[in-house]
Amino acid sequence: MTDVPSVELSGVSLIFGGARPDDDPVLATHDINLAIPAGQFVAIVGPSGCGKTTILNMLAGLISPTRGTVKRHGVEVHGTSKDIGYMLARSALSPWRTARRNVELGLEIRGVSKSQRRATAMELLHKVGLQGFENSYPSQLSQGMNQRVAIARTLAIDPDLWLMDEPFGALDAQTRLTVQAEFVGLWEEAANKTVIFVTHDLEEAVLLADRVIVMTARPGRIKSDTLIDLPRPRHIDQLRFDERFKQAEQRIWEELRDEIVT
Ligand SMILES: Nc1ncnc2c1ncn2[C@@H]1O[C@H](COP(=O)(O)OP(=O)(O)OP(=O)(O)O)[C@@H](O)[C@H]1O
Ligand SMILES: [Mg+2]
Repeated sequence: MTDVPSVELSGVSLIFGGARPDDDPVLATHDINLAIPAGQFVAIVGPSGCGKTTILNMLAGLISPTRGTVKRHGVEVHGTSKDIGYMLARSALSPWRTARRNVELGLEIRGVSKSQRRATAMELLHKVGLQGFENSYPSQLSQGMNQRVAIARTLAIDPDLWLMDEPFGALDAQTRLTVQAEFVGLWEEAANKTVIFVTHDLEEAVLLADRVIVMTARPGRIKSDTLIDLPRPRHIDQLRFDERFKQAEQRIWEELRDEIVT
């Protein structure tokens, strides 16, 4: 094994716009330095507009930094990569595809055989608690169920890096707890997968992650970087009431509060 980080941002700044005189430049992130070892679950929290999605987009190779470098496994990122799963807050499923065929989408694009695609999709749908709903269409499923389909679709290609942008932000509190527990279980079961999980919900960040990064208001910089030393597997329904969890959340809240309460 090597010690090369799964993900490494060095001196990364990103400026949007400024190309035309009427287009004022926006400094979205400023001088981000961050190394994430393979297999770590990292949560990023910070005020709206501080550049969290921008960081995920740079890691996904969708945009390039204005300054600095973004590396994966020691190699500079240029363009998109097949071993990244990227899930958005409102991941749009294809309405005309069943749950199973939505999960199969990425595998179809990769030319995986029909039988293999089906087997992978069925297994993942089972793991996210949707056995029996394989042939349902998104319009026939609840929002929480659709987010589970989206998780299964993101993981179907067996990505090495899981980029999650507020994946559970639109769910009600109870559904969210269930889906969080399923998700963290999937990750704990998977070997050596790196997760970068953006959320507005500090409780979610501390419950799920090994490490929580707090960003400042725009231009986004790293304000604090805290290891969450809570045991795994995480039983998040109980952990929520654990003193160690509460202390960790409280400590990080002190950092975050100054950025979001103005
Ligand atoms: N394509 C773009 N063109 C111009 N400015 C942009 C573009 N995308 C993002 N920005 C600006 O860059 C900053 C960072 O945006 P980003 O979407 O990364 O924030 P965020 O932290 O993900 O916010 P939120 O929590 O609201 O999702 C914002 O001020 C935004 O207005
Ligand atoms: Mg965002």
